[in-house]
Amino acid sequence: MPITKKISEIIRVDHAGEMGAKVIYDGQILALKLKKDFKTLKIVEEMKAQEIEHFNFFDEKIKQKKVRPTLMQPIWGVGGFALGFLTALIDKKSAMVCTTAVEEVIDEHYQEQIKELDFIIENIDENCREEFKNLQQNIKNFRDEEIHHRDVAYDNEARDFVAYKPLSNFIKFATKTAIIISKKI
Ligand SMILES: [Fe+2]
Ligand SMILES: [Fe+2]
Repeated sequence: MPITKKISEIIRVDHAGEMGAKVIYDGQILALKLKKDFKTLKIVEEMKAQEIEHFNFFDEKIKQKKVRPTLMQPIWGVGGFALGFLTALIDKKSAMVCTTAVEEVIDEHYQEQIKELDFIIENIDENCREEFKNLQQNIKNFRDEEIHHRDVAYDNEARDFVAYKPLSNFIKFATKTAIIISKKI
């Protein structure tokens, strides 16, 4: 695959993913407000603040590199919000399962991109190198923050949710599917 096409894919899918993370937390925040669970709300709001930073970075890149955002954006928007709302409505522990599942998939996804960018950086014209190193560094930083979100969610009893395994598997499957689709469409 040509490098420009690969970079467009990276930007498109990450833009979609960070938008998804943001709306999942929007859904959770609404449910937690309705339930007046202000302790969990504070935890989720802190994570959302970082997702906004991640999203803004890719949103800037989308405009700068004139990459088409995924056509699935409205569907991910509704789906992500519903997922966040429902998981937080059921129990604060299932809200945390949502985060552990999503972040574990994203961790792997970002690791893969970091490796792909290593290859690109090695093989590209010197004048483009800095730009891609910068993209890679941002992805590395975001990955560290996603891993932190995962750990926060485990610390907040994600594993104690009664249906931890099936819910986690379902959300991981949905996240992986969304990633595959958002790269191309
Ligand atoms: Fe993020
Ligand atoms: Fe995250």
